Amino acid sequence: MSDKAVLLEARDLEKSYLMPKGRVEVLKGISMRIEAGEQVCIMGASGAGKSTLLHLLGGLDTPGAGEMYVEGQPFHRWPESRRAAFRARRIGIVFQSYHLMPDLNVLENVLMPVRSLRRWGSPGPRARDEARRLLDRVGLGHRLTHRPMELSGGEQQRVGIARALINDPDILLADEPTGNLDAETGNRVLDDLFSLSRERKRCLVVVTHDPSLAARCQRVVHLEDGRMVSSKTHLPSARETGIPTHPEFTSTSTDS
Ligand SMILES: Nc1ncnc2c1ncn2[C@@H]1O[C@H](COP(=O)(O)OP(=O)(O)O)[C@@H](O)[C@H]1O
Ligand SMILES: [Mg+2]
Repeated sequence: MSDKAVLLEARDLEKSYLMPKGRVEVLKGISMRIEAGEQVCIMGASGAGKSTLLHLLGGLDTPGAGEMYVEGQPFHRWPESRRAAFRARRIGIVFQSYHLMPDLNVLENVLMPVRSLRRWGSPGPRARDEARRLLDRVGLGHRLTHRPMELSGGEQQRVGIARALINDPDILLADEPTGNLDAETGNRVLDDLFSLSRERKRCLVVVTHDPSLAARCQRVVHLEDGRMVSSKTHLPSARETGIPTHPEFTSTSTDS
């Protein structure tokens, strides 16, 4: 496999936070490679560092040590403005705590990445149509002019999902995307995320506690005490897509 297919590569990522009672080491050396079209699940106990890792993969934050590459380029060395421009074009992020703009309505929130891509110019009719289509798809077509505070947690989560998809990103990072959704809506959203990933060869990295979601991914990565303790490959899915997996992720599986 040539390095060209590797979209994201983390090398020995470390991250710690300085707190009043001392330094908290969250990630203690995480290495992983993610290719176009791959679906990777990150699991681990609450506080294990899953969101922290996802944010580093998406260039929302920089590591304390280690390196983060996108398509072989040193993401961790880019200034935030360059990372933000790359994110707007290529990365869709579903945040665990939604991060919607409280003063914007649902439609405007979904259009935010389009504005960012156009250097804050107005989104055109096509973008607006696409935003409405995505919101329809997540069951919010009738709530376009509502503000986030008028929505439930699950509804806000669905706005966040539509926003992550609006620029048709080839890297989709989703932090517990169905944590607040009922089973039916969750399944519909997941069907969309996975078919997008398969049909358009988009890579999907999803943090979850849900074993049924994990079972749909090609690889499951477990975080424990700041380290990656195991990784399980779901061969049927890998066969389905024809994407080979990395040897470092196919061994020492400790999960059942
Ligand atoms: N900005 C921050 N400042 C201080 N500590 C943080 C910050 N972000 C995360 N942490 C700490 O890092 C650890 C991992 O957090 P997180 O990545 O959110 O875990 P997870 O998503 O696996 O539940 C937690 O102990 C959390 O309190
Ligand atoms: Mg989290």
